[in-house]
Amino acid sequence: MKQHEQVAMLKRLLALRETRRDEAMLDEVVRIPISKYTDQALLDQELASTFTRYPLVAGHVSALSEPGSYIASDWDQFPYFVIRGEDGRIRAFYNQCRHRGARLLDQCAGAVKNLICPFHGWVYGLDGQLKGITRSHDFPGVDKGDYGLVELPAAEAGGFAWVARDPGALLNIPEFLGEFHDDLVNFDVASLVQYKKTRVVKEANWKLLIKTYLEGYHVPYLHRTTLAFAFKNGVIAHDEVGPHIRLAAARTNIQDTALKPENEWRILDYASVYYTLFPNTFFILHPDYVSINTFWPLSPDRTVWTHEMLYRAEEFPGSAGQGALQKRFTFTNDDVFDQEDFAIAEEVQRTLEHGGSDHHVLGLAEGLLAMFQDNIDQRLARATEPGTERLS
Ligand code: FES
Ligand SMILES: [Fe+2]
Repeated sequence: MKQHEQVAMLKRLLALRETRRDEAMLDEVVRIPISKYTDQALLDQELASTFTRYPLVAGHVSALSEPGSYIASDWDQFPYFVIRGEDGRIRAFYNQCRHRGARLLDQCAGAVKNLICPFHGWVYGLDGQLKGITRSHDFPGVDKGDYGLVELPAAEAGGFAWVARDPGALLNIPEFLGEFHDDLVNFDVASLVQYKKTRVVKEANWKLLIKTYLEGYHVPYLHRTTLAFAFKNGVIAHDEVGPHIRLAAARTNIQDTALKPENEWRILDYASVYYTLFPNTFFILHPDYVSINTFWPLSPDRTVWTHEMLYRAEEFPGSAGQGALQKRFTFTNDDVFDQEDFAIAEEVQRTLEHGGSDHHVLGLAEGLLAMFQDNIDQRLARATEPGTERLS
């Protein structure tokens, strides 16, 4: 967000604060059938459309700083890796040897000079070309040019590496994210560095996990001993671009804006800013660090959750800086996300399977959950119409 956009957003939040209401999201309550979180056939449709036709966030570009540095998939259903080539470009490939299919990279990130298969030692370059076949005399007539790695669409934009499952997709991320791409550029997300990344399996539907982020209603209750103080009387303003949602939540100190001239206002001093990057990424700008959360479905009630925390190196120098980051990570990742938000999502999921109510009812302040669900539902419906175009 540019500074004048940050001022405009803060003014929206200050006006909402007067009325103690979030920006209007829904005109009426919405009912969501619980089958959205339990139905295998629905998940199959989501995987075939939502997770295939749209760009997916592979991770932050700080893990791809040098030629040969790579990020591998966190999701077995889509075994790719993204790697930076000698020419500085990033490319994505299936993490699969063309000889007999062994996995080439078994770490989630790292750096290599070449890709050497652990099974029989075939060697690939950073551009995916097959460079060497061991005992090549046993492969008469096999042309190395025909056995390069299978390439996938990849792009670098807004500080993220992107990948797509549909081999034919053309990734135009600035077009896909619209003005939210400008936000990522203006917040200079690309120059952040990674503090830590975790990968955990949660026993809940991927949408149920993302939806825990999409309202402030629960904050004084579920987070009464953690976040509630920082967001006392918090209100939410939101915007949509395509299937993506941006929300800004006023922090307790937002009235302190009155102490400074507008041209010195910086939104992250007074609010947290969040994005759902469709379909499965939830990106958070906290006051002085950043969280990239991604959600990868394994089954209707199991999801891989990754959390990559990033920061600005100059703001956390030395061992004191590392200690401060550790505190932030423990608080956000362990205390708030894991033990509060996702613990309750797992409890909800456990009860879904065993009768009782057949739907959830969303109040007016929970409208972003309905919006997020609607974005998926609309695109599932479109995917079944012949001749529809990809958004990527
Ligand atoms: S499977 Fe990779 S060299 Fe044989
Ligand atoms: Fe929460």
